[in-house]
Amino acid sequence: MENKLLETENLTIHFGGVRAVENVSFSVGEKEIVALIGPNGAGKTTVFNLLTGVYQPLSGAIRFKGERVENRKPNTITRMGIARTFQNLRLFQNMTVAENVMVGYTCRMRGGMLVAILRTGPFKKLEAAAEEKAHEWLSFVGLSARANELARNLAYGEQRRLEIARAMATGPNLLLLDEPTAGMNPAESESIMELIRGIRDLGAAVLLIEHDMRVVMGISGRIIVLDYGEKIAEGRPEEIQKNERVIEAYLGKKAAKG
Ligand SMILES: Nc1ncnc2c1ncn2[C@@H]1O[C@H](COP(=O)(O)OP(=O)(O)OP(=O)(O)O)[C@@H](O)[C@H]1O
Ligand SMILES: [Mg+2]
Repeated sequence: MENKLLETENLTIHFGGVRAVENVSFSVGEKEIVALIGPNGAGKTTVFNLLTGVYQPLSGAIRFKGERVENRKPNTITRMGIARTFQNLRLFQNMTVAENVMVGYTCRMRGGMLVAILRTGPFKKLEAAAEEKAHEWLSFVGLSARANELARNLAYGEQRRLEIARAMATGPNLLLLDEPTAGMNPAESESIMELIRGIRDLGAAVLLIEHDMRVVMGISGRIIVLDYGEKIAEGRPEEIQKNERVIEAYLGKKAAKG
């Protein structure tokens, strides 16, 4: 891969006795779609939490556009160009759909919304710009008609799209999606796949945690597999599909569940 946008080196974090992420090294190139898969509890979401400054690694390094990411605050990392969605939706339920996306847009600015509210002069201009951007992203994810609705009134699939719009409004070079099709029917999943391809076509790279193998195999240029915190495989979809260690990791977990 030519241009490494994101690179982790021996990334490690433990929670008590749990080796949630252990010596994980991988990279994501510009405009690449990479899937991060693995059984429940494999450490996938924890990798996202390390990449976005929610947790600090016990050891190892993260580089984004050649800059170190560790020991930076989540807001700073957002401004560097990494945006994410959450496995459990985190929308502002009592704000409108458009306002949720505006928050994403103002996140990109130093001090965020607070500065905007305190300085009433520039605020008007900023608000207009944020509104315009919000509507662009809502149109991109297909939620234009819902702009003035409260977030909590959206259907589940729409809420997932709204989270993606809010993340995109921060202007990321890398979008991290944590199970974007969870709880969706096949048609909804298909449209999320289209959306992800659209994001890549706009020039952003996507790192995707996903359990639906149809989505993973259909969309990823490369797949990284975690099991018990360790990277057990990496390769193209057709390689991963027949990888013995990967099959074992999944079957083993299923057998253990009974
Ligand atoms: N804040 C925390 N405190 C303690 N343990 C944690 C914490 N976060 C994660 N873990 C543990 O780390 C391991 C990895 O969890 P993680 O949520 O990253 O898994 P995952 O691959 O995202 O799983 P899933 O597919 O179920 O979402 C699990 O054993 C989990 O219980
Ligand atoms: Mg998870």
